[in-house]
Amino acid sequence: MIHKPIRKAIFPVAGLGTRFLPATKAVPKELLPVVDRPLIQYAVDEAREAGIEQMIFVTGRGKGAIEDYFDIAFESEVTQRERGKDLSALDGTRLLPGRAVFLRQQEPLGLGHAIWCARDIVGDEPFAILLPDEFMRGAPGNGCMKQMVAAYEKVGGNLVCALEVPMEETPNYGVIDPGARDGVLTEIKGLVEKPAPGAAPSNLILPGRYILQPEVMKILETQEKGAGGEIQLTDAMASLIGKQSFHGVTFDGRRFDCGSKAGYIEANLSLALEREDLGDHIRRFATEELAR
Ligand code: G1P
Repeated sequence: MIHKPIRKAIFPVAGLGTRFLPATKAVPKELLPVVDRPLIQYAVDEAREAGIEQMIFVTGRGKGAIEDYFDIAFESEVTQRERGKDLSALDGTRLLPGRAVFLRQQEPLGLGHAIWCARDIVGDEPFAILLPDEFMRGAPGNGCMKQMVAAYEKVGGNLVCALEVPMEETPNYGVIDPGARDGVLTEIKGLVEKPAPGAAPSNLILPGRYILQPEVMKILETQEKGAGGEIQLTDAMASLIGKQSFHGVTFDGRRFDCGSKAGYIEANLSLALEREDLGDHIRRFATEELAR
């Protein structure tokens, strides 16, 4: 069966980033770099690699720098070019005209509400969602969203990335009530957002990658507030289970929770160690530092 292609991705980037204050006082958290590329760039690259054409950013006040980031840096580029400088570091940072949409979530009413803000841009098509502070790192050319699109091409319907974490971490996440597993696919029987300690149906959480059918937008329209007093995407998805197909996809790769300081530092260290220009230096420094 041929499933409608996934052409659009939503990036919710309205969050205040309070965990990284004061760094995020004037700089959106999505522009914090992992080595030398902002977090949002990795997420956009991941979507592009999966064949996604249109990037929809749900922003908020104080997030204008994200829009500038994906534009041409006209003055700087002209000057650099005149000086014969190499501009290849900017490859992939300029989104083509018409391929980037920026819209605002005016109030912080929750992830579900942020997604709903993009309903008219998404229209009647299945779409992807990528939470940029969840940094998902697959093998080169086989990122998380690409793996999810490959699974979608087989089973269609709705898919969420599914990741195992220690049980005590489940209260921080959306959690899956899993059914049968078949290869990378796990049937989903239920979803619960931020369960109370000890109440999670499993240790399989939602690490912020989704492929959803457009009907979820209708549910979000009237979704009641859930965990934390926010309109939760997880609750809207949960009410579609049984009506539409829902699967979890086990991702082959590593995940860094860059919404936390520890995860962000781990991502920087891991990528720096992999880099040809930095790896040896950082390995030597880290070894010496640990021995101090
Ligand atoms: C959001 C989602 C949650 C998901 C998490 C991943 O929560 O609501 O289901 O597991 O992202 O990071 P937040 O971190 O915004 O509270």
